[in-house]
Amino acid sequence: VDHLLGIKYLTKNDIDLIFETANHFKEVINRPIKKVPSLRDITIANLFFENSTRTKLSFELAEKRLSADVINFSAGQSSVKKGETLIDTVNNILSMKVDIVVMRHSNVGAGVFLSKHVDAKIINAGDGTHEHPTQALLDSYSIKEALGSVKGKKIVIVGDILHSRVALSNIFALQLQGAQVKVCGPTTLIPKYITSLGVEVETNIKKALEWCDVANVLRVQHERMDIKYFPSTREYTQLFGINKEILDNLGKKIVIMHPGPINRGVEITSDVADADQSIILNQVENGVAVRMAVIYLLAQQIKR
Ligand code: CP
Repeated sequence: VDHLLGIKYLTKNDIDLIFETANHFKEVINRPIKKVPSLRDITIANLFFENSTRTKLSFELAEKRLSADVINFSAGQSSVKKGETLIDTVNNILSMKVDIVVMRHSNVGAGVFLSKHVDAKIINAGDGTHEHPTQALLDSYSIKEALGSVKGKKIVIVGDILHSRVALSNIFALQLQGAQVKVCGPTTLIPKYITSLGVEVETNIKKALEWCDVANVLRVQHERMDIKYFPSTREYTQLFGINKEILDNLGKKIVIMHPGPINRGVEITSDVADADQSIILNQVENGVAVRMAVIYLLAQQIKR
């Protein structure tokens, strides 16, 4: 593939190659000298038109660990505020000899649009409610690390599926690798098309957790809701919140994941988020190695 725009454009072989490469980089970043000189001749621009903590810092660190030159752009402090278009913004940045653009944007398909209009490799760091491919890759990588494989595992994605790019990218990635996927949440926050993707819907959180090996818990994205959704935050927590009591009554230990940022006490209690069975910070750690792999593999296609 020429860009990383979404998991839907990848094959199982692509994911295997990314994970093999990430294994190597995970070793590298655990050495006293955490860098390799591989991309000394590559320049990368991180363009964030939407807020981010993990993804932005993880990409920047991955790029620096590969010895690339890095420039960072946040739309809020830029000439976008003066009305400059996306294509003008990116073409101006590319004229400074930039090879790869990492972009987060609130519009669905922003990465695909950009890839057709500018001459650079594009990595989608989240496009609206659509895809967040590197999050799904690091999630699958973390499941593989925790359980030995993704194939045959039962994964439930819990919460606000409707507004979640993490959910869609995870569904594509997990199914490519042979996992079974269910979603669980209020019907108002589950899109109607989800069953057409081969995903079952479970509206009872206890049943969903009894079924699964892994629960990937999502944040309720109030900022993407333009109408008042049922349930309220309090009702959501009562009906779908994951707490220690529910987990202790399962009779088995499941793996807990969350892409962050966490609404502690809403979709997950602090004691669960910080429990031994939670791999939330492992996900963040693995994000750097996985993003190094994605960037490294795309950079191999650039003529130098
Ligand atoms: N998981 C994730 O995308 O987090 P940020 O929004 O902080 O980047």
